[in-house]
Amino acid sequence: MSSIKIEPILKQVTPVLPDGLGFGRHFTGRMFSQRFTEAEGWSEPAIGPYENLVLNPAAAALHCGQMVFDGTKAYRRSDGDLNLFRAERNCERFNRSAERMGMPPVDVALHFDAIEMLVALEHRWVPDVDAGSLYVRPVMIATEPVLEVRASREYLHYIILSPVGPYFPDGFNPVSVYVSHDQVRAVRGGTGEAKTPGNYAASIAVSEAARKRGCQQVLWLDAVERRYVDEVGAMNIAFVYGDNEIRTPPLSGAILHGITRDSVLKLAPDLGYEISETPLKIDDVMRDIQNGDITEAFGMGTAAVIAPVGRLVMLDKEVTLNDNRTGPVAQRLFDQLTGIQYGRIDDPYAWTSRVNIDRRDAAVATS
Ligand code: PLP
Ligand code: COI
Repeated sequence: MSSIKIEPILKQVTPVLPDGLGFGRHFTGRMFSQRFTEAEGWSEPAIGPYENLVLNPAAAALHCGQMVFDGTKAYRRSDGDLNLFRAERNCERFNRSAERMGMPPVDVALHFDAIEMLVALEHRWVPDVDAGSLYVRPVMIATEPVLEVRASREYLHYIILSPVGPYFPDGFNPVSVYVSHDQVRAVRGGTGEAKTPGNYAASIAVSEAARKRGCQQVLWLDAVERRYVDEVGAMNIAFVYGDNEIRTPPLSGAILHGITRDSVLKLAPDLGYEISETPLKIDDVMRDIQNGDITEAFGMGTAAVIAPVGRLVMLDKEVTLNDNRTGPVAQRLFDQLTGIQYGRIDDPYAWTSRVNIDRRDAAVATS
């Protein structure tokens, strides 16, 4: 029996979602939250109405940036139930991020239960559109009102849900990627491995430069030599050599341990591809795309799924991959991965866990 209290919400609204859902713009009617104090630890885990936070203007998160988040998705199966995909990994990563930021760990089992319960209660919000899913966003923020630079003694942990379509407006089509040649995002030993908002804040200015060159994503180079490919703004990256060999940069200490990346490392050999974790110099990558040795590139992420890369732009150079069309390797990995996530094909890896939705939810939730 879970210790999570389910509070009534005033009115069960029937979700009406617009056609162009976008990503992370709509939120469901409920959220999970619990608070931490040094004296009591975590207490009062509850699912209640989605509402604005009440925060002291001096809350440490707003001044020191002591915050972490994560992201996973619930997918609608054809039998109506939902699948979570390797969500326990997200729970573990949430705690690793928290540890890096000097924050207390959450109880992984309770965090997972909270995701399951929230998703089961809010299942009607899973959008019934192609590539639609319910994005799960767990967050932890430092709430103690204190301006000293030290670990907060109070925290809020909450989970919200967002019905989403594809991350990129064009769906499963090639994206253009801008190589950041001067600004860097994260350095080994820094916070790049943690999912903390500062990493993303560091990427905003360059994203604007990228947008001006017609690019949707930024590729980050290693912060020391600025020669090696690290990762892309919202996803890990891989390059296809010839028609069978996939190379992705190793987990250098500065990049996120992507769960999609890890899944591709396991899926690819089973589909007959060779895959390796190999340091990749950006100059070699640009050259190998130009001379045709690299035939495809793709990003890997929960939000982005498998995102084919059609163009790479660096300074005054620009190279095109596979005529800016989705290549066969990205297509196959996308089909296999989404097939497992939506329960359309067998899951030999036991990556999915089924959430039995509460078909009586209107009665449970309304009061
Ligand atoms: N790298 C960054 C910076 C990300 O934000 C993400 C998305 O979560 C990823 C990689 C991919 O990670 P995952 O596959 O676990 O979503
Ligand atoms: C995800 O894929 O879950 C991400 O967090 C990427 C981005 C939306 C920040």
